[in-house]
Amino acid sequence: MCGIVGYIGPDQAYDFLIKGLQRLEYRGYDSAGVALLDGGLKVYKTKGKVSDLVSLTEGKDTTGSIGMGHTRWATHGEPNDINAHPHLSQSGDLCIIHNGIIENYASLKEVLLERGHEFVSDTDTEVLAHLIEDIRENEEVDVFEAVRLALNEVVGAYAIVIISKNDPDLLIGARKGSPMVIGHGKHEGEYYIASDATPIVEYTREVTYMEEGEIAMVKDGQLTIKTIQNIEKTPYIHKLEMTLDAIEKGGYDHFMLKEIYEQPKSIYDSMRGRFSQEDLTFAMQSLREYETKIRNLKRIIIVGCGTSWHAGLVGEYLIEEFARLPVEVEYASEFRYRNPIINSDDLVIAISQSGETADTLAALELAKENGATLYGVCNVVGSSIPRITHAGAHTHAGPEIGVASTKAFTAQVTVLTLLALGIAEIRGQITKARLREMFTELEQIPGKVQKVLDSCADKVLEISEKYMNVQNFLYLGRGYNFPVALEGALKLKEISYIHAEGYPAAEMKHGPIALIDENMPVVVIAPKRGYYEKVFSNIQEIKARKGQVIAVITEGDEKIKSIADHTIEIPDTEDALVPLLATIPLQLLSYHIAVMRNCNVDQPRNLAKSVTVE
Ligand code: M6R
Repeated sequence: MCGIVGYIGPDQAYDFLIKGLQRLEYRGYDSAGVALLDGGLKVYKTKGKVSDLVSLTEGKDTTGSIGMGHTRWATHGEPNDINAHPHLSQSGDLCIIHNGIIENYASLKEVLLERGHEFVSDTDTEVLAHLIEDIRENEEVDVFEAVRLALNEVVGAYAIVIISKNDPDLLIGARKGSPMVIGHGKHEGEYYIASDATPIVEYTREVTYMEEGEIAMVKDGQLTIKTIQNIEKTPYIHKLEMTLDAIEKGGYDHFMLKEIYEQPKSIYDSMRGRFSQEDLTFAMQSLREYETKIRNLKRIIIVGCGTSWHAGLVGEYLIEEFARLPVEVEYASEFRYRNPIINSDDLVIAISQSGETADTLAALELAKENGATLYGVCNVVGSSIPRITHAGAHTHAGPEIGVASTKAFTAQVTVLTLLALGIAEIRGQITKARLREMFTELEQIPGKVQKVLDSCADKVLEISEKYMNVQNFLYLGRGYNFPVALEGALKLKEISYIHAEGYPAAEMKHGPIALIDENMPVVVIAPKRGYYEKVFSNIQEIKARKGQVIAVITEGDEKIKSIADHTIEIPDTEDALVPLLATIPLQLLSYHIAVMRNCNVDQPRNLAKSVTVE
């Protein structure tokens, strides 16, 4: 939620800020703004997207070698010009951008109002700017110290950047609960700040991921990092491995389409080098390190949100089938607040593309307090979840920019498949022969995904044209394909704004069947594996009520072809691996319907990629 960028150095800041905001726009697009320091302070901000900000600044003075930029996902105050960041302090000397929520802003504001402060916006961020200035003036301290003292009074989450009109060589950044990366520029005294590394990678590969409760200050060309308790830290420099092409559209109309088509590679990358077909072993360090723990586990709890929660459901089926270990899958947002029973011999697996989702992080913190072992399955290297978990395995999907998660989901399912098999192997629940079969089939999956992509495009376009104007969709699946149905429905609603529901196929008769008439398209995931005959009966029940069936079937399945209105074929595979194939046409279906409805596919309304607020 919200993207922030900052620059200090010998170059002009504006181009980096705008390009950086465009790269971070997936984090929020309600408003955008920049501030530039060049003798005086210039602030430009507007409701709308970064492109609106670019129009606003056309012909204006955008010089300045210190600057900051913000793209907003509104929390406090409606998305308008005034609530857009940056915000100024009472005197206008301090300028701030913020990603996060200051939870105690109302009480802080009350005190500041009594002290004569006047506010122009409805935001919590403006309160922080005033608070810092108030402390600076009353305590007679410098800006850094005022920021530090102010942050000690703040409850909530923040990643902030601050510049000061009276300090033309100063840039301050701080984080708690919201991400922040510092790029070490090629020139002396040159530093970049951003919510993630995507704006920075074009300029430098050397970055420092800020830790919780740290404040960074660049002054007179020197970077200093301290905690809010005033303890000095030595910045640890990571080398970025991300490439520039990975964060550009590369000829595709949308990031989402590019990311859908990247799945043969992202699935392959997520399994590459993690198992050996020859000697039937796993090369996952986390499995080796926690072997004893895994052997003694009583239960696994999986937490996540949205698509990641759907991947967790697939994980539950996988782990219970192969490792015969009880698994509970929880919405992180519910888990964190419902006083759950967590034991020290539980393994809590957090699934998250961004690694920053506030609810998932809070669920992990709760699990940690209760002594559980924490395991992260995250995509963004250097993000918060991998840093607070004891162990984990990254999904190697590469940067996912489209707000709708696609390749991250299949990468998560790939990693969870390996985890399930690895845990099964450690606990002696799988034979060598079965492991060999699974490895053999897993190796085929990237090729089979490619086949689905190559073969289903025309069919999906035809179906999209026919149903692009309907009001509702139903998605049904059973077993491993129930989460696929949920994911298909989520994808459609979030980018095309068509109401869609996912259901276990057998649940249809307990309610949703009442919705079925000749206008209702029902997507049924019906491979010739698992509960084929049962799902076939469900299709007949839909047809008996004149519903329109779009069935995802195993190639060559003439039986379903003869009764369904449309079929999309996928290659045969192990029941447990069907989600990796069946998800692909559903992603494409949502994509094409959304494009045909003129929706903003990569930046759907009201959403943001990284949900760092509750
Ligand atoms: O970054 P995370 O995986 O933790 O994000 C969780 C959800 O916010 C995310 O999956 C969301 O549901 C996507 N927009 C779905 O496409």
